[in-house]
Amino acid sequence: MPLAEEILQIEKTAKDELREATGLDALEALKNKYLGRRGRLAEATARLGGIDPAERRDAGREANRVKEELTRLFDERKHSFETSPQDRKRGEGPDLTLPGVVPRPGHLHILTRVIDEISDIFMGLGFEVASGPEVETEFHNFEALNIPLDHPSRDSFDTFYLENQRLLRSQTSTVQIRVMEKKRPPIKVIAPGRVYRPDATDASHSFMFHQIEGLLVDEKVSFAELKGVLLTFARRFFGAKVPFRFRPHFFPFTEPSAEMDILWSRGGKDRWLEILGAGMVHPHVLRSVKLSPEKFTGFAFGLGVERIAMLRWGIPDIRMFFDNDVRFLAQFG
Ligand code: PHE
Repeated sequence: MPLAEEILQIEKTAKDELREATGLDALEALKNKYLGRRGRLAEATARLGGIDPAERRDAGREANRVKEELTRLFDERKHSFETSPQDRKRGEGPDLTLPGVVPRPGHLHILTRVIDEISDIFMGLGFEVASGPEVETEFHNFEALNIPLDHPSRDSFDTFYLENQRLLRSQTSTVQIRVMEKKRPPIKVIAPGRVYRPDATDASHSFMFHQIEGLLVDEKVSFAELKGVLLTFARRFFGAKVPFRFRPHFFPFTEPSAEMDILWSRGGKDRWLEILGAGMVHPHVLRSVKLSPEKFTGFAFGLGVERIAMLRWGIPDIRMFFDNDVRFLAQFG
């Protein structure tokens, strides 16, 4: 067989075997077998010197062409083994040494966590969790809570009014009324939720924030029990040694009313900071849901969730809760 033809034969078998190659190792062996220093092509080329010059020219040309062609094919195949998943499957499977994609698990929002934590404390004291609508009636947000028509909080500067005499509730105290409309005492609930006030936004004001309402109504409930419950909450949430005080205050729906402060130290300075409003449920409120104030007494309280979280972690600006900046939120994962 003329050498040129022999070289064509080599090309053909090399291509056949290349098609069958199953992976990088097999490919490497094959490349050696055909293109290596002692490979089939090298061996054929070595015989060029001993043949007839006319034949030698043909055979030489073929040898060069085949060498280039096979080199290109081997390289192509190698590249596809390294990059194409399909070839890799036929070949060596996935490369387990490549770094994986690290999943970034999310977590609850800081406000959800605070609400859960506070709810847990009150549930431990026997309170159940209740809820009410954010779109409310004037009756539930004001009238039933003994807030008269000329009270400043009924002003449109203080409340978001919608159509049909509806409004966005400005306090979770609405849920007191909703619960008492449905259920007779003993009542022992907390109600976390959003409230809305058209305040200009700044470091300590937001048009929307969260409150947790508390309501306990039964026979012979006293102010001492209110203090006991709130003190237990404050100690569990802020620490056993936190100093606290009750200051007389006014709310239309409680009488007597108080605000509770805790003494909070930051940067070496002590400050009394208000954490909630509270009081004994006003007789008018009980009457508005057809409960006899002669028979039942109760207490209520309402605390601001953002405010409490800002205090505990020293967060300087209420807007940080709502900016959705992961660098801030991820600190509370
Ligand atoms: N609703 C009051 C507020 O938004 C808080 C409060 C609730 C006060 C219950 C007393 C009793 O400021």
